[in-house]
Amino acid sequence: ANAKIAVIVGSLRKDSFSRKLAKALMSLAPAGLELKEVAIGQLTMYNQDFDDEGTPPKEWAAFRETMKEYTGVLFVTPEYNRSVPAVLKNALDVGSRPYGQSIWNGKAGAIVSVSPGGLSAFGANHHLRQSLVFLNVLTMQQPEAYIGNAANLFDADGALGNAETREFLHKFMLAFAEWVKKVG
Ligand code: FNR
Repeated sequence: ANAKIAVIVGSLRKDSFSRKLAKALMSLAPAGLELKEVAIGQLTMYNQDFDDEGTPPKEWAAFRETMKEYTGVLFVTPEYNRSVPAVLKNALDVGSRPYGQSIWNGKAGAIVSVSPGGLSAFGANHHLRQSLVFLNVLTMQQPEAYIGNAANLFDADGALGNAETREFLHKFMLAFAEWVKKVG
Protein backbone atom coordinates (compact mmCIF):
# COMPACT_ATOMS: atom_id res chain seq x y z
CA ALA A 1 0.00 0.00 0.00
CA ASN A 2 1.07 3.58 -0.57
CA ALA A 3 2.33 5.59 2.38
CA LYS A 4 0.39 8.81 2.73
CA ILE A 5 2.64 11.83 3.23
CA ALA A 6 1.40 15.29 4.17
CA VAL A 7 3.33 18.08 2.51
CA ILE A 8 3.44 21.17 4.72
CA VAL A 9 4.71 24.38 3.17
CA GLY A 10 5.93 27.17 5.45
CA SER A 11 4.86 30.03 3.16
CA LEU A 12 1.49 31.56 2.29
CA ARG A 13 2.86 33.63 -0.61
CA LYS A 14 1.12 32.94 -3.91
CA ASP A 15 4.39 32.77 -5.86
CA SER A 16 6.24 30.98 -3.07
CA PHE A 17 9.50 29.31 -4.09
CA SER A 18 8.92 26.81 -1.29
CA ARG A 19 5.57 25.74 -2.76
CA LYS A 20 7.11 25.47 -6.24
CA LEU A 21 9.80 23.28 -4.76
CA ALA A 22 7.19 21.22 -2.91
CA LYS A 23 5.40 20.64 -6.23
CA ALA A 24 8.66 19.57 -7.84
CA LEU A 25 9.32 17.17 -4.96
CA MET A 26 5.84 15.68 -5.34
CA SER A 27 6.41 15.09 -9.03
CA LEU A 28 9.82 13.48 -8.37
CA ALA A 29 8.62 11.11 -5.64
CA PRO A 30 8.85 7.38 -6.32
CA ALA A 31 5.83 5.07 -6.44
CA GLY A 32 4.85 4.02 -2.95
CA LEU A 33 4.60 7.57 -1.63
CA GLU A 34 1.31 9.40 -1.97
CA LEU A 35 1.95 13.09 -1.30
CA LYS A 36 -0.61 15.82 -0.74
CA GLU A 37 -0.28 19.38 0.53
CA VAL A 38 -2.12 20.03 3.78
CA ALA A 39 -2.90 23.74 4.21
CA ILE A 40 -1.93 25.56 7.42
CA GLY A 41 -2.70 29.22 6.66
CA GLN A 42 -6.30 28.94 7.91
CA LEU A 43 -5.25 27.93 11.45
CA THR A 44 -6.03 30.57 14.08
CA MET A 45 -3.03 31.52 16.19
CA TYR A 46 -2.67 29.01 19.00
CA ASN A 47 -4.38 29.92 22.27
CA GLN A 48 -4.44 27.25 24.98
CA ASP A 49 -7.76 28.55 26.36
CA PHE A 50 -9.60 27.10 23.35
CA ASP A 51 -8.34 23.62 24.19
CA ASP A 52 -8.74 24.01 27.98
CA GLU A 53 -12.32 25.20 27.51
CA GLY A 54 -13.13 22.53 24.92
CA THR A 55 -13.84 25.06 22.19
CA PRO A 56 -11.11 24.58 19.58
CA PRO A 57 -11.71 26.50 16.31
CA LYS A 58 -13.19 24.19 13.69
CA GLU A 59 -10.09 24.64 11.51
CA TRP A 60 -7.92 23.23 14.32
CA ALA A 61 -10.18 20.21 14.70
CA ALA A 62 -10.21 19.62 10.93
CA PHE A 63 -6.41 19.92 10.69
CA ARG A 64 -5.91 17.50 13.58
CA GLU A 65 -8.32 14.99 12.02
CA THR A 66 -6.78 15.31 8.56
CA MET A 67 -3.24 14.84 9.86
CA LYS A 68 -4.19 11.56 11.53
CA GLU A 69 -4.60 10.04 8.03
CA TYR A 70 -0.91 10.49 7.25
CA THR A 71 2.04 8.23 7.98
CA GLY A 72 4.59 10.92 7.35
CA VAL A 73 5.16 14.59 6.77
CA LEU A 74 7.43 16.46 4.38
CA PHE A 75 8.17 20.03 5.46
CA VAL A 76 9.22 22.48 2.76
CA THR A 77 9.96 25.82 4.31
CA PRO A 78 11.60 29.18 3.86
CA GLU A 79 13.47 30.89 6.66
CA TYR A 80 12.18 34.00 8.42
CA ASN A 81 14.73 35.86 10.49
CA ARG A 82 16.94 32.80 10.76
CA SER A 83 14.11 30.65 12.07
CA VAL A 84 10.87 28.90 11.17
CA PRO A 85 8.07 31.12 9.76
CA ALA A 86 5.35 31.74 12.37
CA VAL A 87 2.68 30.07 10.24
CA LEU A 88 4.62 26.80 10.33
CA LYS A 89 5.45 27.02 14.02
CA ASN A 90 1.76 27.68 14.67
CA ALA A 91 0.80 24.52 12.77
CA LEU A 92 3.28 22.54 14.88
CA ASP A 93 1.76 24.00 18.03
CA VAL A 94 -1.87 23.45 16.99
CA GLY A 95 -1.12 19.83 16.02
CA SER A 96 0.69 19.16 19.28
CA ARG A 97 -2.30 19.74 21.56
CA PRO A 98 -4.46 18.97 23.55
CA TYR A 99 -1.72 17.57 25.77
CA GLY A 100 -1.20 13.87 25.12
CA GLN A 101 -3.04 13.93 21.79
CA SER A 102 -0.30 15.28 19.52
CA ILE A 103 -0.84 14.34 15.89
CA TRP A 104 2.91 14.49 15.26
CA ASN A 105 3.92 11.64 17.54
CA GLY A 106 5.71 8.84 15.67
CA LYS A 107 5.31 10.21 12.16
CA ALA A 108 8.14 9.86 9.65
CA GLY A 109 9.48 13.27 8.64
CA ALA A 110 11.77 15.09 6.26
CA ILE A 111 12.76 18.72 5.83
CA VAL A 112 13.67 20.74 2.78
CA SER A 113 14.61 24.36 3.42
CA VAL A 114 14.44 26.93 0.64
CA SER A 115 15.85 30.42 0.18
CA PRO A 116 16.63 32.83 -2.63
CA GLY A 117 19.79 33.54 -0.65
CA GLY A 118 23.01 31.61 -0.35
CA LEU A 119 22.65 30.26 3.20
CA SER A 120 19.76 28.08 2.03
CA ALA A 121 17.59 28.58 5.12
CA PHE A 122 19.89 26.51 7.32
CA GLY A 123 18.53 28.27 10.42
CA ALA A 124 14.91 27.37 9.66
CA ASN A 125 15.88 23.79 8.82
CA HIS A 126 17.58 23.25 12.16
CA HIS A 127 15.13 25.19 14.33
CA LEU A 128 12.42 23.00 12.82
CA ARG A 129 14.46 19.91 13.69
CA GLN A 130 14.62 21.10 17.31
CA SER A 131 10.82 21.13 17.61
CA LEU A 132 10.51 17.81 15.78
CA VAL A 133 12.81 16.12 18.30
CA PHE A 134 10.41 17.06 21.08
CA LEU A 135 7.34 16.16 18.99
CA ASN A 136 8.82 12.72 18.25
CA VAL A 137 8.66 13.14 14.49
CA LEU A 138 11.20 10.63 13.22
CA THR A 139 13.03 13.03 10.95
CA MET A 140 15.37 11.79 8.24
CA GLN A 141 18.89 12.99 8.95
CA GLN A 142 20.60 12.18 5.65
CA PRO A 143 20.53 13.36 3.02
CA GLU A 144 19.96 16.93 4.17
CA ALA A 145 18.34 19.35 1.74
CA TYR A 146 19.24 23.04 1.78
CA ILE A 147 18.04 24.68 -1.42
CA GLY A 148 19.56 28.11 -2.05
CA ASN A 149 19.41 30.51 -4.97
CA ALA A 150 15.74 29.60 -5.30
CA ALA A 151 14.78 32.59 -7.46
CA ASN A 152 16.78 31.14 -10.34
CA LEU A 153 15.60 27.53 -10.16
CA PHE A 154 12.19 27.70 -11.79
CA ASP A 155 10.95 28.63 -15.26
CA ALA A 156 7.73 30.60 -15.90
CA ASP A 157 5.59 27.44 -15.48
CA GLY A 158 7.20 26.64 -12.13
CA ALA A 159 9.21 23.74 -13.59
CA LEU A 160 12.70 22.99 -12.30
CA GLY A 161 15.06 23.68 -15.18
CA ASN A 162 18.27 22.63 -13.49
CA ALA A 163 18.94 18.91 -14.09
CA GLU A 164 21.40 18.65 -11.22
CA THR A 165 18.87 19.99 -8.72
CA ARG A 166 16.18 17.70 -10.11
CA GLU A 167 18.51 14.72 -9.73
CA PHE A 168 19.37 15.72 -6.16
CA LEU A 169 15.71 16.10 -5.21
CA HIS A 170 14.84 12.80 -6.84
CA LYS A 171 17.51 11.07 -4.75
CA PHE A 172 16.22 12.87 -1.67
CA MET A 173 12.71 11.52 -2.30
CA LEU A 174 14.04 7.99 -2.90
CA ALA A 175 15.84 8.18 0.44
CA PHE A 176 12.70 9.51 2.11
CA ALA A 177 10.64 6.62 0.68
CA GLU A 178 13.16 4.19 2.22
CA TRP A 179 13.05 6.10 5.50
CA VAL A 180 9.24 5.95 5.60
CA LYS A 181 9.41 2.18 5.01
CA LYS A 182 11.83 1.84 7.90
CA VAL A 183 10.15 4.03 10.53
CA GLY A 184 6.70 4.96 9.23
C1 FNR B 1 12.78 36.74 4.86
N1 FNR B 1 13.73 36.15 4.03
C2 FNR B 1 14.80 35.47 4.59
N2 FNR B 1 15.63 34.68 3.82
C3 FNR B 1 16.62 33.96 4.39
O1 FNR B 1 17.33 33.22 3.70
N3 FNR B 1 16.86 34.05 5.75
C4 FNR B 1 16.10 34.82 6.57
O2 FNR B 1 16.33 34.85 7.76
C5 FNR B 1 15.03 35.56 5.99
N4 FNR B 1 14.20 36.34 6.76
C6 FNR B 1 13.04 36.82 6.25
C7 FNR B 1 12.07 37.39 7.10
C8 FNR B 1 10.86 37.79 6.59
C9 FNR B 1 9.82 38.33 7.52
C10 FNR B 1 10.60 37.70 5.19
C11 FNR B 1 9.27 38.14 4.63
C12 FNR B 1 11.54 37.18 4.36
C13 FNR B 1 13.55 36.15 2.57
C14 FNR B 1 12.81 34.90 2.13
O3 FNR B 1 13.73 33.85 1.95
C15 FNR B 1 12.07 35.16 0.81
O4 FNR B 1 11.08 36.14 1.01
C16 FNR B 1 11.48 33.89 0.24
O5 FNR B 1 10.98 34.14 -1.05
C17 FNR B 1 10.37 33.35 1.14
O6 FNR B 1 9.99 32.04 0.74
P1 FNR B 1 8.79 31.77 -0.28
O7 FNR B 1 7.61 32.59 0.15
O8 FNR B 1 9.28 32.19 -1.64
O9 FNR B 1 8.54 30.30 -0.19
